[in-house]
Amino acid sequence: MVAFSVRVKRACTPKPQAAAMKTRKYLVLNGPNLGHIGERQPEIYGSQGLDSLPGLLKELSGEAAEGIELLYHQSNFEGNLIDRLEKARREGLDGVAFNAGALTHTSLAIADCLAWIGIPCVEVHLSNIFARTDEPLRQKSLMGKSCIGVVAGFGILGYALAVLALERHNAAGQDKK
Ligand code: DQA
Repeated sequence: MVAFSVRVKRACTPKPQAAAMKTRKYLVLNGPNLGHIGERQPEIYGSQGLDSLPGLLKELSGEAAEGIELLYHQSNFEGNLIDRLEKARREGLDGVAFNAGALTHTSLAIADCLAWIGIPCVEVHLSNIFARTDEPLRQKSLMGKSCIGVVAGFGILGYALAVLALERHNAAGQDKK
């Protein structure tokens, strides 16, 4: 009897996801009076600063966080925020987590900008604006209709949730808004 064996060479293929995964860039954009998050009225807006955002995002999304790049911008000026959004369009960013502060409730110009730039945006608020019933204007958003959704009431965690929602939105290949 002749014994023989066939050696099967193990295919050494790279992980397809790792090879294909491109870095996704998200802009964390903050409007007026949001330059001191964590210090400003912590009883309303919380005591955590934006520096805790990357850690929260990693906690929530694990390894996927490595493919996410966050860009930050804050301005107290409406026109500057619009300039940054237009720049985000030119840069081809993947989404915006946008807390426009009080401009949320008043700025038709920001709403108009979000309506055309073609970048998915999530409206973010540190406080639960809907529970602030003593100030009804805060429950109104002009920009909301041009956003894929709204996160309010979770402090800094809200920005992380917004980025995750943008990731899902983009992965599902949904139309840019
Ligand atoms: C805010 C809510 C706004 O009404 C307010 O003007 C802000 C912060 C928030 O994050 O809860 O500046 O956007």
